[in-house]
Amino acid sequence: MSRYFPPEAYGELADGIREVLFTEEEIEERVREIGQAISHDYNGRNPLLIGVLKGVMPFMADLLRMITIPMEVDFMAVSSYTVESREQGMVRLEKDVEIPIEERHILFVEDVIDTGLTLNYLLRNLRAHEPASLEVCTLFNKPRRRLIPISLKYKGFDLPDRFVVGYGLDYREKYRNLPFVGLLKPEIFQP
Ligand code: IMP
Ligand code: MG
Repeated sequence: MSRYFPPEAYGELADGIREVLFTEEEIEERVREIGQAISHDYNGRNPLLIGVLKGVMPFMADLLRMITIPMEVDFMAVSSYTVESREQGMVRLEKDVEIPIEERHILFVEDVIDTGLTLNYLLRNLRAHEPASLEVCTLFNKPRRRLIPISLKYKGFDLPDRFVVGYGLDYREKYRNLPFVGLLKPEIFQP
C-alpha cells in the first residue's frame, strides 16, 4: 500500500523522469530493514543520528520511525565555497550539530555517497570530538565514483554512475518531493 501518490500524479516532475529505479514501496521496505538492523545493533547505546541537510530529509524522517530503541537526531548544513574547493571535499559548515557528540555513539546518515569527499571531510571533523563510535549509514551508494574509501555500516542500494533524483535528491533544487527515485530525461539533465 502506498502512502503517497502514483508517479503520474506528479505531473511535470514525473514527466522529467526517464526511468524509475526504486519505487516508493522498494525504498520503504529497505528503510524498514535498515531501521531494524540499527535497533538491534545499537540497543542500549542511545545512538545519535546525524544528517546533512537537505537531501537526507525524507530518508531520515522515514528511518527514525523504523527505529524502535531510544535515539536522538541532529543535523548539519554545509555549502561549498567553489567548484574547486568542492572537488577537494572542502565545505563551509553553515550549521553545526547542536548536541555534544563527545563519547556518543554517532551514526552519520547520508542520502547518497558519490566521491565521498564531502563525507570524508565531515567525518574527520566529527572524529576530532572523540565520539565513542562513528559509523555511516547511506541510502544510496555510488561505488564506482568513490575517490576516498569509506566504510559503510548500513547501505540501502548501490547505484550506477548516473545522476538520480527523488526522495530528497534534487536537480537544481527540484524533484526532492518525488516519493520514488529515478533517472532524469537527457533533455532536462545537463551535467
Ligand atoms: P560527494 O560524495 O562528496 O561526491 O557528494 C555527494 C553529494 O553530491 C550528495 O550529498 C548529493 O548532494 C550530491 N549528489 C551525488 N550524486 C547525486 C545524484 O545522483 N543526484 C543528486 N545529488 C547527488
Ligand atoms: Mg546532499
